[in-house]
Amino acid sequence: MGKDKVQIFDTTLRDGEQVPGCRLDTTQKLVIAERLDNLGVDIIEAGFPVSSPGDFKSVNEIAKLVKNATVCGLTRAVKKDIEVAAEALKHAKRPRIHTGIGTSDSHIKFKFNSNKDAIIERAVEAVKYAKTFVEDVEFYAEDAGRTDNEFLARVCEAVVKAGATVLNIPDTTGYCLPEEYGAKMKYLMENVKGIHKAILSCHCHNDLGLATANSIAGVVNGARQIECTINGIGERAGNTALEEVVMILRQHPTLNLDTGINSKLLYDTSQMVSQKMGMPVQPNKAIVGSNAFAHSSGIHQDGVIKNRETYEIMDPEDVGVNESSIVLTARSGRAALAYRAKKVGYELSKIQLDIVYIEFLKFADKKKEVLDKDIHEIIGASNIEIESIA
Ligand code: KIV
Ligand code: ZN
Repeated sequence: MGKDKVQIFDTTLRDGEQVPGCRLDTTQKLVIAERLDNLGVDIIEAGFPVSSPGDFKSVNEIAKLVKNATVCGLTRAVKKDIEVAAEALKHAKRPRIHTGIGTSDSHIKFKFNSNKDAIIERAVEAVKYAKTFVEDVEFYAEDAGRTDNEFLARVCEAVVKAGATVLNIPDTTGYCLPEEYGAKMKYLMENVKGIHKAILSCHCHNDLGLATANSIAGVVNGARQIECTINGIGERAGNTALEEVVMILRQHPTLNLDTGINSKLLYDTSQMVSQKMGMPVQPNKAIVGSNAFAHSSGIHQDGVIKNRETYEIMDPEDVGVNESSIVLTARSGRAALAYRAKKVGYELSKIQLDIVYIEFLKFADKKKEVLDKDIHEIIGASNIEIESIA
């Protein structure tokens, strides 16, 4: 049986760009949008067109440029927002309007000073209005993570009836536990009349570090779209990281789900977004961090040198990283030293290695990391005859 497709909805240029101090100009956004298209994402959320003339221009230019992906613009459930988004998207091959409203008690009371029936009415009106411009309309129930399931199902049913093609269930505040978020999706799959006419979408924030786990729980329970950003960037603690969900689904074939993303472009895309946004990637970031395939303790290094799979569950080449790295530190053992010495041109016998290792430890205790140039110095200081194989 073939795998079920999970659509990747990239919101690096909208939710991701809401990171304070990381604003991108239109030219930078176009370069990123083109890369996302090549990466194989299904939908690019290009911006929030009514929010500023700059955002309108970016969405409009991206809509003209993108060849394969659907291009999406965000709106509130407000007529003017929807009109402006439709105008910005008019050149897109596949336009999508993403409209919605808060559905949790807290949003209904404090943001809208409204009530549940009035919220459903506004939601339906917004979807119907968006449908007069484009066929593909995604509805978001903001703060769905804290919305009671029964009311959420009523909202979903009403907007599907109004023509929504995708139902976005955002855990806006990153509050849900994976079991809870998964159960929410299951509840909607089982209780929304007409659910087969729409796709359920996961949109998870990372306030408690659960965005990726929640998105996976969502697709395991029936959702077929994940909204995510490169490097997991976004407001506060960020969004679900695209590279994480792509590799989780790929490395766990028993889930029988696939994204169709060209994973070999992941590392390079991560670097591109990081540089353009001026936002460094934390070294221990899963998949794309500089330490994601680096081994520094002696026990791990020995294992990886014997067979990479002892301590790696992915081939670095699959995400565009050339090879695993063996980092030399005071925690490294002889196997790592011999391996790195060979790479810079020295084949050490067992006796030579024992001597050089003593010198290496003295050196490594003084430094955080021993580099290639240091290896030459250490071997020089070991006072032994070693023929270079370089
Ligand atoms: O987190 C959220 O609720 C959102 C919506 C606007 C889709 O980003
Ligand atoms: Zn969001």
